[in-house]
Amino acid sequence: MSAGTIYGLGLGPGDPELMTVRADRLLRQARHVAFFRKAGRKGQARQIVEGMIPEGAVEYPMEYPVTTEIPLTDPRYNSLLSAFYEESTAHLRALAAGGEDVVVLCEGDPFFYGSFMHLYTRLVDHVPVEVVPAISGMSAAWTATGSPITWGDDILTVLMGTLPEEVLAERMAASDAVVVMKIGRNIDKVRRALRRAGRHDSAWLIEYAAMPRQTVQRLAEAPEKVTPYFSIIVVHGQGRRP
Ligand SMILES: C[S@@+](CC[C@H](N)C(=O)[O-])C[C@H]1O[C@@H](n2cnc3c(N)ncnc32)[C@H](O)[C@@H]1O
Repeated sequence: MSAGTIYGLGLGPGDPELMTVRADRLLRQARHVAFFRKAGRKGQARQIVEGMIPEGAVEYPMEYPVTTEIPLTDPRYNSLLSAFYEESTAHLRALAAGGEDVVVLCEGDPFFYGSFMHLYTRLVDHVPVEVVPAISGMSAAWTATGSPITWGDDILTVLMGTLPEEVLAERMAASDAVVVMKIGRNIDKVRRALRRAGRHDSAWLIEYAAMPRQTVQRLAEAPEKVTPYFSIIVVHGQGRRP
């Protein structure tokens, strides 16, 4: 019996109409559908494909043992997550070994700061794995602002809000266009870094880009509160143009 294939299925930023034709086709013929979710939640990737999973398909939710409950620097964080990825990989490998294809739903692009990468590296030497690329959340975020992100030879830097303030400020000051992801409880630090870099007043905050609850506002006008998990800050480049 030939092995099944594990598909890392990029679904785009939220609106199902922004999925690729390939992702749509693979999903509609799927018999096994795996996806990540926080315990007690539906899971954003699963939410995107609501009503699109074929009847009779077997769903396999992979629940993170921890998300923001303990700090990233705590040694338990890595060991808990690594055990979780090993267990999830073993399940997917067993299905593939039995000849079954599995689609793993991924919000945005699977190879762009996504959890699927941790399965991919554990699977790729053992079973056939294919990745279907997709529109990332940041693309939907700058599109929602109604202004282009980069012009001419602008340098775009993508930063995670989890980085130290010093690094954020330095990179923000040295770039033409900036995207900041993973903001949430890091918002105050990100704001301070933007101010130090002189970019705070030109920054935009986009929450839930391409999702039903999408909001777009100037960061300077946004309430000073923790932002949702799905939020992105964008500073547009102002590079050369005819
Ligand atoms: C683990 S990363 C996943 C990125 C995803 N693979 C992608 O291609 O966009 C999660 C972070 O991406 C950002 N993000 C992804 N999609 C988003 C969306 N539709 N709206 C707002 N933020 C989004 C948020 O900053 C969030 O904290």
